[in-house]
Amino acid sequence: MKVKKAIIPAAGLGTRVLPASKAVPKEMLNIVDKPAIQYIVEEAVAAGIEDILIITNRGKGVIEDHFDYAFELEAGLAGRPDRADILAQVKAVAELANIYFIRQKETKGLGHAILTGKSFVGNEPFAVLYGDDVIISEDPVIGQLSRTYEEFGKGVVGVKEVTREQIKMYCTLDVSPLKGRAMNCHSIIEKPTDEQIMSLYAILGRVILPPETFGMLEEGIAKLESGEFYLTDAMSDLAKDDKLIAYDFDGIRYDMGNKLGIMQANCEVALTHPEIGEDFKAYLKELAKGL
Ligand code: UTP
Repeated sequence: MKVKKAIIPAAGLGTRVLPASKAVPKEMLNIVDKPAIQYIVEEAVAAGIEDILIITNRGKGVIEDHFDYAFELEAGLAGRPDRADILAQVKAVAELANIYFIRQKETKGLGHAILTGKSFVGNEPFAVLYGDDVIISEDPVIGQLSRTYEEFGKGVVGVKEVTREQIKMYCTLDVSPLKGRAMNCHSIIEKPTDEQIMSLYAILGRVILPPETFGMLEEGIAKLESGEFYLTDAMSDLAKDDKLIAYDFDGIRYDMGNKLGIMQANCEVALTHPEIGEDFKAYLKELAKGL
């Protein structure tokens, strides 16, 4: 079955990038000239996904504004023939896809956020693109995962190998070879200790899940007494039932939820940007001489 719907959770507190994220959602922090979340929506659209649900919360209304028409701005630009290309770019953002919004009323974790998308998704497989993970690739990563879902009919998590230090902040996966970049995923441990590390593969920002995930989320959240409910818990249940594949995707991922990730994204995207790429490269070379 084809994956046609995507959820982008963007309701987190963004504490790791405060104070930048105090009034501006971290998902709206820019990479050169576009906010992070626009790259993510563009990735989904490039993979053929037309219906996208963005999960926000109080104070994140600016995300809705970004994907809407901006009449005053557009009227001002319309009278300027020298600004025609900018006008086209601004309008195109509002026409990227069918974008829906829902609020997660309490910040109770990624699993809790995804559950708000239950009626949007219905009885279909769906993509999840984490709102603070931008992945640059020629072949959109969510498309790579969707094709894997279509081939094997199981949930798919996008993974990359990270360092031993990093894996302790993510989750570790027990995997065995399946086909090409695809691996069977047998179990997942969130934030492992040294002894618990099963492989250096971590789930980084892109997954395809079957609709039965919602039942797993509901069950888990019903038992939750306090704190957050992780999406990993539901994915872990899928792995135990032999219904999960780990896919070592082809792409470069930037974590916009941490300060170094924001700088890496801006630096690397700027180097390939058609307007400023050459000037930025010359500037960096000059700067590097003094480091
Ligand atoms: P993170 O755990 O990286 O986001 O969640 P966070 O909670 O904002 O991070 P810190 O620790 O406070 O800095 C990954 C994605 O899931 C969303 C976030 O917005 C982010 O895009 N999220 C997280 C939700 O939508 N709801 C939540 O309750 C938690």
